[in-house]
Amino acid sequence: MIPTVARAFTNSARSNRHVAVLGANGGIGQPLSLLCKLNNSVTKLSLLDLKGAPGVAADLSHIPTTAQVKGFNPENIGDCLKGAEVVIIPAGVPRKPGMTRDDLFNTNASIVRDLVKSVAEHAPKASIQVVSNPVNSTVPIAAEVLKKAGVFDANKLFGVTTLDVTRASTFIAESSGKPSEGPSYNVPVYGGHSGKTILPLISQATPNTQLQKEAHEALVNRIQFGGDEVVKAKDGAGSATLSMAFAAAKFADEFIQGLNGKAITVPSFVNLNHVQGGKEVQKELGKDLEYFSVPVTLGPNGVEKVSSIGQISDYEKQLFSEALDELAKNIEKGVSFANSN
Ligand code: NAD
Ligand code: LMR
Repeated sequence: MIPTVARAFTNSARSNRHVAVLGANGGIGQPLSLLCKLNNSVTKLSLLDLKGAPGVAADLSHIPTTAQVKGFNPENIGDCLKGAEVVIIPAGVPRKPGMTRDDLFNTNASIVRDLVKSVAEHAPKASIQVVSNPVNSTVPIAAEVLKKAGVFDANKLFGVTTLDVTRASTFIAESSGKPSEGPSYNVPVYGGHSGKTILPLISQATPNTQLQKEAHEALVNRIQFGGDEVVKAKDGAGSATLSMAFAAAKFADEFIQGLNGKAITVPSFVNLNHVQGGKEVQKELGKDLEYFSVPVTLGPNGVEKVSSIGQISDYEKQLFSEALDELAKNIEKGVSFANSN
């Protein structure tokens, strides 16, 4: 049973890989920590939360997999982060029905800022993978904090948009009448991580998928607003946690595979000004957006390059043009918060 679950991620531990989860006692943090414990590429797992992380760690430590797990309270964040190569941040409050992700900004901006300050101090070379919403703003906040500390490396900072890609595969399989075939579908998702800024390119899906106009538009809308579907169903008890834990664990695993020398290309929200290929994407967009989710090729140093957008349909061009202004505002909000607080 355990080896089978672990094989959903990578098969073998080739190096020492230390992962830290900040917010590990939360709705995402707990299942994410479990999935990291089941990943045999992870050799050390450090868990932190405001409270409860030592308990989560004690519980996970009884599972006989490679990772040695330890829990920390905030006063020991330095020990938690020391030597970490991958830091995943799901700390922060989730949405309730009627809220947008941007409504979380006032609470989560300072949580992310303060945690990233600690990462800059104690694990300056780590990859930071931000889950906390609003991702369109929290990633720029993280970048500004890292810049101020003199340790910003765009090749290692990511907004985790894997859940959008995960939903896209699931929903396109359902729309195609093959609901159990989600894993064989791949839909590149560009843009940001909120509503209309989420830009799934069905025209580039594999296998090639032709849908009637109405079904196509309904599919795009469902991918863009998949988060709301879960918020509504949970009825005040939070937002996606289990699918998000899967998505964050998958992205961390893909990043580690890159570190281990296996190039892999997956979408993620990155800084276009400072990654290889980013300027070409900005030219395609006709706008110097600093952050955008694009297919990213991961390697031993993080981002090797990002892929250009290529051919898209007129309908998709329209979706892009509707998204760019909102995304630019979200980015600017994060940048100015970090530089004025
Ligand atoms: P949650 O409330 O269940 O858990 C959050 C955890 O963070 C809590 O255990 C809390 O104690 C901890 N925390 C808060 N401040 C902290 C700090 N300063 N240091 C350490 N830990 C701290 O929330 P959740 O459902 O796990 O969601 C977490 C965040 O992830 C939310 O902002 C949510 O919107 C976001 N999210 C993002 C995606 C995505 O696709 N990127 C998907 C789902 C949820
Ligand atoms: C999601 O897409 O599920 C997350 O961003 C959580 C949310 O607020 O919808």
